[in-house]
Amino acid sequence: MNILWVFAHPDTRSLNGALRDAALAELGKAGHRVEQSDLYRMNWNPVVRADDYGHDPTGRLHVATASSTALRRGSLAEDIVTEQAKLRRADAVVLQFPLWWFSMPAILKGWVDRVFVEGFGYGIRSEGGSTRRYGDGLMSGKRALVVTSMGGSEYTVSTRGINGSLEELLFPIHHGIFWYTGMSVLPPVLVASADRMTPKDYRAAVDGLADRLSTLFTDSPIAYRSQSGGNYDENFVLRSDLAPDEFGVRVHVG
Ligand SMILES: Cc1cc2nc3c(=O)[nH]c(=O)nc-3n(C[C@H](O)[C@H](O)[C@H](O)COP(=O)(O)O)c2cc1C
Repeated sequence: MNILWVFAHPDTRSLNGALRDAALAELGKAGHRVEQSDLYRMNWNPVVRADDYGHDPTGRLHVATASSTALRRGSLAEDIVTEQAKLRRADAVVLQFPLWWFSMPAILKGWVDRVFVEGFGYGIRSEGGSTRRYGDGLMSGKRALVVTSMGGSEYTVSTRGINGSLEELLFPIHHGIFWYTGMSVLPPVLVASADRMTPKDYRAAVDGLADRLSTLFTDSPIAYRSQSGGNYDENFVLRSDLAPDEFGVRVHVG
């Protein structure tokens, strides 16, 4: 299978760098074809600019609308086109990053911002005219996985942990990016207490990651509710008879 591995860490000698190397070796052994986007090594530009979408003769075109215009004209910036082609080829997409300030490093957010433009990541119309999103889109059929590490312990991201649950922390990526664009979202791989690992902890992290990668194409995805499955009302609010006593991000899992 084809896997796109997006790596966002400035130092290849880091824990994340070592985990990445081990993971890619495992995937290679299993016969997968892996393409990488090693964002720091690529010197990826994370900042959206109007000229990402080709020259705007009026000087007034808004970025959000310029993107679809540019897709029609085929004038997206070269680095965006290259990343979109990698995504189109991928059967699975892995985002690997250290948790920074409860989120992904800015360079990775900027990869998402610039690559998932209108007409590719969002604003896709079905034949009936509705917008394809949340379980449907150009990324449908692809699997998606977050591999992340954090300084805090696993307890701090448990359901009552002080950092908020891991499910809540990763919701913007899982639901807002992966599921929104149509991908099937796998439960994340988390390496916690990453700043004080013993050699034994490191071994366990490498083995745990290898285990998860061995079932990348067979693990059950998170059962997010699809927008088109009759779960939501006309304002995209979850029907009141579904998960009636729950609230927050959890309600979007069926
Ligand atoms: C800018 C920055 C922000 C961080 N924010 C968090 C955080 O929000 N939560 C957390 O548990 N750890 C946080 N950490 C710790 C990192 O997640 C941790 O150092 C990293 O996962 C270790 O992996 P590495 O050696 O590959 O960098 C942060 C570290 C940095 C440098």
